[in-house]
Amino acid sequence: MTAADDPVIVDPAAVAPTLQTWDRLAAAMPDCYACPLSVSRTRVVPGVFPSGARLLLVGEAPGRSEDEGGLPFIGRSGQLLDQLLAEAGLQRAEVAVLNTVKCRPPGNRTPRRREAATCRSWLDAQVEVIDPPVIVTLGGAALTWALGPKARITTARGTVHEVRGRALVPTYHPAAAMRFGPQGAPLQALRADLATAAALVQ
Ligand code: URA
Ligand code: SF4
Repeated sequence: MTAADDPVIVDPAAVAPTLQTWDRLAAAMPDCYACPLSVSRTRVVPGVFPSGARLLLVGEAPGRSEDEGGLPFIGRSGQLLDQLLAEAGLQRAEVAVLNTVKCRPPGNRTPRRREAATCRSWLDAQVEVIDPPVIVTLGGAALTWALGPKARITTARGTVHEVRGRALVPTYHPAAAMRFGPQGAPLQALRADLATAAALVQ
């Protein structure tokens, strides 16, 4: 095999900051094999950015439905998310939705620290392009991305934080809300926190 036949290994840290549009970032991600999640994925799920979106939601990782469909939050968590967004007066078409890692972990396990660290160059570059005034993190993986590994949802949620000039509203992942049921604290918190985020972008 000659050098010309070698696959070009994209290094997100080197490449992502140079691709300064949504379309170029999304087009480059399917060529990313920078972490072990590239082995288990069916396809890369870059996320969605409807033009004019002022709110950004950051989830954890694609699940089975997303891995098959190529879009974020289209499975069971996504159905609950749509319902809660509607209660807060928001349509999915008004929000950008990204994940901390773009490829489905095997068996939906939590992304490992190294995987999230490798993939965050894509996420950081996407956030620069979207430039949202308000970010909602859904669950622990996204909270770690936003506030570092020491942050905990139970203590971080309930207040609006500021990260690099943007409002940050940390909340639970919809999957936690489903796990703890209709009377559980995560669902109540998600409702309240999405209402807070909606009020910030009104
Ligand atoms: N859970 C996530 O965190 N993201 C998705 O896209 C789907 C489920
Ligand atoms: Fe690349 Fe992210 Fe997929 Fe890992 S999860 S292969 S860093 S796009």
